[in-house]
Amino acid sequence: MAATMIGGAFLSATVHTLVEKLASTEFLDYIKNTKLNVSLLRQLKTTLLTLQAVLDDAEEKQINNPAVKQWLDDLKDAVFDAEDLLNQISYDSLRCKVESTQVGSKTNQVWNFFSSPFKNLYGEINSQMKIMCESLQLFAQHKDILGLQTKSARVSRRTPSSSVVNESVVVGRKDEKETIMNMLLSQRDTTSNNIGVVAILGMGGLGKTTLAQLLYNDKEIQQYFDMKSWVCVSEDFDTVRVTKSLLESVTSRTWECDNLDILRVELKKNSREKRFLFVLDDLWNDNYNDWDELVSPFIDGKPGSRVIVTTRLEKVAEVAHTFPIQKLEPLSNEECWSLLSKHALGNDEFHNSKNTNLEEIGKKIARKCGGLPIAAKTLGGLLRSKPCI
Ligand SMILES: Nc1ncnc2c1ncn2[C@@H]1O[C@H](COP(=O)(O)OP(=O)(O)O)[C@@H](O)[C@H]1O
Ligand SMILES: [Mg+2]
Repeated sequence: MAATMIGGAFLSATVHTLVEKLASTEFLDYIKNTKLNVSLLRQLKTTLLTLQAVLDDAEEKQINNPAVKQWLDDLKDAVFDAEDLLNQISYDSLRCKVESTQVGSKTNQVWNFFSSPFKNLYGEINSQMKIMCESLQLFAQHKDILGLQTKSARVSRRTPSSSVVNESVVVGRKDEKETIMNMLLSQRDTTSNNIGVVAILGMGGLGKTTLAQLLYNDKEIQQYFDMKSWVCVSEDFDTVRVTKSLLESVTSRTWECDNLDILRVELKKNSREKRFLFVLDDLWNDNYNDWDELVSPFIDGKPGSRVIVTTRLEKVAEVAHTFPIQKLEPLSNEECWSLLSKHALGNDEFHNSKNTNLEEIGKKIARKCGGLPIAAKTLGGLLRSKPCI
């Protein structure tokens, strides 16, 4: 099976998807309402991260080292068991959510949690999870015996984002783009000040930055706004740095000064009377005061000015948004498959191919991406160098 042939690479993407799922707000919120063992889930995440760190090395070494190949093959089975278990949990979380929105009232929501077919199964799931953690921890111990070394994980090695996007490789996101376009171009302002904020929310690798790039580069957007600016904020939120980046982008020149007051006054001066679009990509800071301080220099922009914030954290979105929060959904299996094939072959050849066997394998792999474009892209890229699946 293709999965065996692309060994560590395939595993790497699956492990990445699982870790993202375990860390997602949605998953954690659901877990809080159940009797599932939170500390076991944490252990599972830590162990997966430990294993993920050596997968790149294992992938390389398996070619000459049969023991490593065996380790990867066995690990693959264990990881897929973990995936099945987490899928079961996700399925129940979804079921509870759907039923509670259908029925509506609080009492019924509570009832739904307790009526879960999982209720009696939580104990069983916990014991399965315990076995799974122990088994994965054995793999983690074994990695040292095999001499596998930590390399930073391929899928999480991210460079700072810029506003540039290659639109020819983007799949889907048409509806999402249209919804946000309407917010960006609407004449109606949602707050007393002039800035409308659209928050795009979703786990890492889901395509938030890509969607923001599509919007930023759209022709209609270019014409509508007097000026645009893109700042990659990332984990190390620093008001001086972000304010300075915005100012530099707005004035098209560098600013040596680190005095926040001066920077803010300049930014205020330069954004006044202009309709602007600012993108703050990958915001992690959920402190309201920091946010307020950051946006205060540009609240006097021309009506219709907009800020797009992308974030993984619901709390950040809640602090920033003025328009309804745009929660990004995973791509469909079909879209993942299209993305994977584009990266595997550089075009849609897989789609046009008469080789239905190949297509079937490719689609199976795409399903394993869990709707995460980063997983589909990474796998596609790896398949590109392995033409003989
Ligand atoms: N709709 C899409 N079509 C094609 N590639 C995508 C799509 N969404 C994301 N990607 C690719 O997946 C990777 C992760 O996407 P990104 O937008 O950086 O995610 P996020 O900002 O949510 O972490 C990027 O390399 C991007 O090019
Ligand atoms: Mg991003």
